[in-house]
Amino acid sequence: MNITVVGIGYVGLVTSVCLANIGHKVICYDISKEKISKLKKLNSPIYEPGIEELLIKNKDRLFFTTDVHKAFKNSKVVIIAVGTPENEDGSTNLKYLNETIKIFSENINNDCVLVIKSTVPIGTNDLIEEILKNDNNIKYKISVVSNPEFLSQGTAIKDTLNASRIVIGANDVKSMNIIKKMYLPLSKEPYNVPIVTMERRSAELVKYSSNCFLAMKISYINEIANLCEKVDANIHNVVKGMKYDSRIGDKFLEAGIGYGGSCFPKDTKALYKFSVDNNCELKLVKSTIDVNRKQKILLLDKLEKNEVCLKNKTIAILGLTFKANTDDIRESPANYIVPELLKKKCFVNVYDPVGLNNFRKYIDDNFKQNNIKYFTNIDSAINNADYALIINDWDIIKNYKLSKYVSLMKKPVIYDGRNLYNIEEIKKYNIEYYPIGINVKRNDLNV
Ligand SMILES: NC(=O)c1ccc[n+]([C@@H]2O[C@H](COP(=O)([O-])OP(=O)(O)OC[C@H]3O[C@@H](n4cnc5c(N)ncnc54)[C@H](O)[C@@H]3O)[C@@H](O)[C@H]2O)c1
Repeated sequence: MNITVVGIGYVGLVTSVCLANIGHKVICYDISKEKISKLKKLNSPIYEPGIEELLIKNKDRLFFTTDVHKAFKNSKVVIIAVGTPENEDGSTNLKYLNETIKIFSENINNDCVLVIKSTVPIGTNDLIEEILKNDNNIKYKISVVSNPEFLSQGTAIKDTLNASRIVIGANDVKSMNIIKKMYLPLSKEPYNVPIVTMERRSAELVKYSSNCFLAMKISYINEIANLCEKVDANIHNVVKGMKYDSRIGDKFLEAGIGYGGSCFPKDTKALYKFSVDNNCELKLVKSTIDVNRKQKILLLDKLEKNEVCLKNKTIAILGLTFKANTDDIRESPANYIVPELLKKKCFVNVYDPVGLNNFRKYIDDNFKQNNIKYFTNIDSAINNADYALIINDWDIIKNYKLSKYVSLMKKPVIYDGRNLYNIEEIKKYNIEYYPIGINVKRNDLNV
């Protein structure tokens, strides 16, 4: 099938290479000349495990362009995967989507199914179809299908080829069948991905409900972790006892410093705003957002409680991206913690195996600061530091030897936002250690 994907970011690029991998010809269109010129050389503009292998393997079925005239040529399906960031009031900003619809309507030259993969408020697909229907310049039959995306950055290829499900929301049988056909190879061996069909509005809501549920699970276990610290319980033991209940499950129960990234933060806010606007306030979603806001700066709160004056202290930040295995720093806890430390006149040494450049750009664009140093290895970042704050869980941080904190830091003090280390090991090294959900000083019952 000839397919066009518009918006070659984290979702658009993964979608494109995976569709090419199951045999489709894919035109990848983006307005970013920089991204497209990298892709033409088969270099990925994003860090995502496995992506360059699929780019190279499927190079004969992938075409990259910034030229609108070439973008939609003969495509039976056009998939839109542009960003839908948040407005200041939490609602969804549809600026990029609207621009894309305009470009599409001016350039489409055959009947086609327009697939909205971007996360959009309920009713957006209906609205787009209405706009296109009323556009007298369009001479072709266009139907709109909702096909929300559920991939996670860091495991995006696996999440697409071996997706938990593919949700297709269509209001007519013909376009539903075209999109089912597009995904047919994924529904068969060896992938066996379930295809779940419904009308468009429900499909749009599946995406928000799923993300908000997962975010809620994270905020819930984080609140329980905070309670553990107050009452001398141990979050690991609490979770160990909870997860045997199959109704609860064992996923998303790792206490930490909150969720980040480009999806959970904005999707929770968007669904909450949407619920209020429709006179059906989702209070659980509101609490999820509030808990997460506090959790993101928890390490800073703990540090401030223990240290009267942070001025002139050297603080190592280990991990800048919102989680491991991605270069994405959007809504990372580091984005909140580092500027606060700089405001308090600390010296901040930051380290991340792939997120350094994106983080440097974030700091340079938003804050004028000299007290920050960027390091490409952990040894140099913690050398002579007063405190180490662990923000994410890259393997290289997880596997970093505890003895190094002892030999390199002024005195080893670790605030661990991801509970990476074993308490008994920590005690052997006499490290002052503040994880999430365990009061190490008072918690000797680490059975
Ligand atoms: N990133 C994720 O993990 C994830 C997961 C599921 C769903 N989503 C949703 O998918 C959508 C895309 O997210 P993303 O993280 O891939 O975004 P992104 O910011 O990484 O990529 C968006 C791309 O769209 C391009 N673009 C913007 N305007 C354009 C235009 N007029 N024409 C062509 N290209 C244009 C940008 O240059 C960029 O490359 C969002 O709605 C997001 O909520 C994201």
